[in-house]
Amino acid sequence: MAEKEIMKGYNILAEEYYQSRKDKKGTSYFYNQLLEMPTTLKLLGNIRGKKVLDLGCGPGIYAKVLSEKGASVKGIDISEKSIEIAKKEAPHAEFIIGDAEKLPYKNFEFDIVLSPLMLGHLKSWNKVLSEIYRVLKKGGLFIFSYHNPVTEKNIKHNWFFKRFRELNGYFEEERIIKIWEKENKNFEMIHYHKTYSTIIKLLVAHRFEIIDYEDCKPLLESKESYPKDYKKTINYPTFCVWKVKKK
Ligand SMILES: C[S@@+](CC[C@H](N)C(=O)[O-])C[C@H]1O[C@@H](n2cnc3c(N)ncnc32)[C@H](O)[C@@H]1O
Repeated sequence: MAEKEIMKGYNILAEEYYQSRKDKKGTSYFYNQLLEMPTTLKLLGNIRGKKVLDLGCGPGIYAKVLSEKGASVKGIDISEKSIEIAKKEAPHAEFIIGDAEKLPYKNFEFDIVLSPLMLGHLKSWNKVLSEIYRVLKKGGLFIFSYHNPVTEKNIKHNWFFKRFRELNGYFEEERIIKIWEKENKNFEMIHYHKTYSTIIKLLVAHRFEIIDYEDCKPLLESKESYPKDYKKTINYPTFCVWKVKKK
């Protein structure tokens, strides 16, 4: 079951989250549109004519791109407010409010399941991986992005005018609370860290074959407009994308 705090957080922050993804001056634009999204779309490849499920679709930013690329798209998210926005953002896609761990779709319905930056909110991946396997056709693809396991666990330090991150606690698969500062309020966003070994074992146990993987690198054209973020993320993998196939 989706955690209530996560659903509540994404409902309260839905509009602001959406706007931050669209604001070309903001860091969300850099981290999502210029860092995570290009790699995810690259691994997704050609989707013309494919039936794609956008799992944890948020405000429909991916669903819009997928529809424009010629896919037939369905999107699902636990956040009611995000789904309201998604319906306007991607009018050609079909959306529903629901939990990724209990999908309201038929067996073998999709060619592709895409899930950008959603799995980190789930403590256990067993139910969601079983559901994804069930709704995929044989040979269907599951593409997901995730915070990079190597760098996700870190402690920030300030030393005079420099900021450092010390990598720490990789093997502790615990709940991480990330503070989102929005509208002068702090929101706690929950994330679950997993090691590479855990992720690979889970995928294998759920009969997925890993066919591609990439650490996200920022687009070169973002170097001038976002010099600090570019410098950080070209030296430090923030996200990663996995492409796996239903056997
Ligand atoms: C970081 S946002 C990413 C949104 C979208 N995938 C994107 O990349 O534009 C994570 C999304 O996952 C959704 N989510 C979290 N847990 C979920 C669950 N158990 N079932 C469905 N959606 C969930 C949240 O409501 C939120 O919209």
